Amino acid sequence: MTTPSPLTPDQLLAALNWRYAVKAFDPSKKIPAATWAALEQAMVLAPSSFGLQPWKFVIVSDPAVRAKLRPLSWNQSQVTDASHFVVFATQVGMTEAQINRYADEIARQRGPSQDVENYRGMMLGFLKGLPPGTDTTAWNTKQVYLALGQFMAAAAVLGVDTCPMEGITHAKYDEILNLPAQGYRTCVACAVGYRSDADWLAKLKKVRYPAEQVILRV
Ligand SMILES: Cc1cc2nc3c(=O)[nH]c(=O)nc-3n(C[C@H](O)[C@H](O)[C@H](O)COP(=O)(O)O)c2cc1C
Repeated sequence: MTTPSPLTPDQLLAALNWRYAVKAFDPSKKIPAATWAALEQAMVLAPSSFGLQPWKFVIVSDPAVRAKLRPLSWNQSQVTDASHFVVFATQVGMTEAQINRYADEIARQRGPSQDVENYRGMMLGFLKGLPPGTDTTAWNTKQVYLALGQFMAAAAVLGVDTCPMEGITHAKYDEILNLPAQGYRTCVACAVGYRSDADWLAKLKKVRYPAEQVILRV
């Protein structure tokens, strides 16, 4: 694969400074299909530990479902007003079968090899070696947040607004989206679209600690 031509540092920082957690989306503005397709790929392409991808990305398009979710989200308007709404769901637990499925997929896409079998054995050995009671769902959850971060950064680069949302009633989301029956649970949501001119937060300065207070150099 050829190396893509990079953004300039200024272009990257312009996108990241432009991004903020939007409070009011413009309900009339919809994300073009090609842009949305790229953003779906930004989720699919997210890195994860061992590459196991312990997630589902639930794209909630049905306005009736979004209307149901809004009161379960501190009534935040982003749930119904954003162009798109994604629920990032965590796989519950990690099983040998899930590891085997992934190793099989590598073999399918790259061709079978001893290397793949070694990798399978290493992952299975890792799982077996975890101390009893290890919360593998918590491990999976960390991967899901990485996908959220990559998704939001990608959106900013494409000039698409987002609002990550943890102010949601996870158990109720699970019920409405029927996630536990599929082996998943709600982790975090993200509204995606275009900011409203009326969003009070859009004009406020972004507040961050200065770099020298958060970056340690050794
Ligand atoms: C995991 C996570 C959950 C969040 N949940 C909400 C939320 O429910 N509603 C909201 O308006 N903002 C939410 N935020 C946005 C943060 O408040 C915001 O990112 C933070 O104040 C920094 O501001 P900025 O993103 O606008 O730069 C969330 C952010 C993260 C990372």
